[in-house]
Amino acid sequence: MAKLAAVLTLIALLGCAARTCQAEYGNPTPVPSIPSITSPPPPYTPTTPSPPPPYTPTTPSPPPPTPATPSPPPPYIPTTPSPPPPTPATPSPPPPYTPTTPSPPPPIPSPPTKGLVVGYYQQSCPRAEDIVREVVRDASAGIMAGLIRLFFHDCFVRGCDASVLLDQVDPNSPPEKLGVPNLSLRGFEVIDAAKARIEKECGSDVVSCADVLAFAGRDATYFLSNKKVYFNMTAGRYDGLVSFKNETLPNLPPPFATVDQLKANFASKGLTADEMVTLSGAHTIGISHCSSFNSSFSDRLNPSTSDMDPTLMSSLREQCKSDNGTDNTVVQDINTPNKVDNKYYKNVLSHEVLFDSDAALMKADDTSAAVRANAKDNGVWEEKFKAAMVRMGAIEVKTRTDFLDRAPVEIRRNCRVVNSH
Ligand code: HEM
Repeated sequence: MAKLAAVLTLIALLGCAARTCQAEYGNPTPVPSIPSITSPPPPYTPTTPSPPPPYTPTTPSPPPPTPATPSPPPPYIPTTPSPPPPTPATPSPPPPYTPTTPSPPPPIPSPPTKGLVVGYYQQSCPRAEDIVREVVRDASAGIMAGLIRLFFHDCFVRGCDASVLLDQVDPNSPPEKLGVPNLSLRGFEVIDAAKARIEKECGSDVVSCADVLAFAGRDATYFLSNKKVYFNMTAGRYDGLVSFKNETLPNLPPPFATVDQLKANFASKGLTADEMVTLSGAHTIGISHCSSFNSSFSDRLNPSTSDMDPTLMSSLREQCKSDNGTDNTVVQDINTPNKVDNKYYKNVLSHEVLFDSDAALMKADDTSAAVRANAKDNGVWEEKFKAAMVRMGAIEVKTRTDFLDRAPVEIRRNCRVVNSH
């Protein structure tokens, strides 16, 4: 029934493809049919610190973000043995998967790192991670923020399988990237560029788009934190073959979600409430369209219903003014909009956040305690953020085992289209 209601709502939303209706998430109860988690995933234990990765830029590039902080390059040497590289000799690719009913899949909590390992491409494409880092390093701060969000939006719909990267091919089957929550995603070109360089260096059928995206999200965090927040990202993901617009709204939390809805949504992906609070800290960077917090669904600029700080509210009113109906953008963190740090939690405490979903973190005892703890100690939050990003990167992943089982997975050659196209 809940699924049916969601589908009906989505049908009503089909006409809403323009950015100006980006806030029309449309369903006040957007997280339907979330199963309860019987056994929460075990806590992620980071691998032991390892020596710095070889990082030799091949192309001339802009100076690193913080010449003032000469922090060493991030540690990167796999601590776990990498699996055999995908063998091109494997008989034939799995048959193309053609779904008949494009309805949202039931959310399946996933194990923490199902078959993923650090250093997966050490033998098959040793410079894969370096290449991604080089390409991300040359992107703007805004695009870097976009990459972190892109990773999140990939993982929450069908798992981290690069389904968010697929372009529309069949006019009757719009992909995820045309879903309302995804209309403002950015950073696709960075993934294309990294993938193209990797294909040139290591050939096809080696490095998945899903892994390129996961590395890019990790590296964007690294650069936006002035090279402070670095972590090993597990890999071994395979790419999915399908992508459906109508799976976005039921799986991605809207900016007007309540704390209970946020908890349920993240739990449906196998993530805890604490991880939800931890990952929300990504709202310390990047931008938002005014429609995401100033609409009939989320009236954050209305002093009678919103607890937003009055100074920020009046500033946003000004910034969101538009004579021609343009959906303006504003920064999420007014003071350090391009810096990954724990400022977001201080903003939550001082009511200087954009979304209902941000403010909602103060509405439950456990999440508000987590906000306070993260606001107090940047180091603690950073460690939790690293671990949570890796755990998010393991949501419902498809791996080589699935490939060998002839499941509908592949290593895409072009991240925008499936290989059979
Ligand atoms: C907790 C539930 C979350 C909600 C409701 C939410 C919602 C949103 C919304 C509405 C925007 C603005 C989109 C726009 O108008 O352009 C946004 C931006 C952003 N979100 Fe979230 N988000 C959530 C969690 C996350 C997580 C888990 C991450 C990553 C770990 C993340 C990373 C970002 C980033 C980096 C931006 C800025 C993107 C850019 O500048 O292009 N968000 N989010």
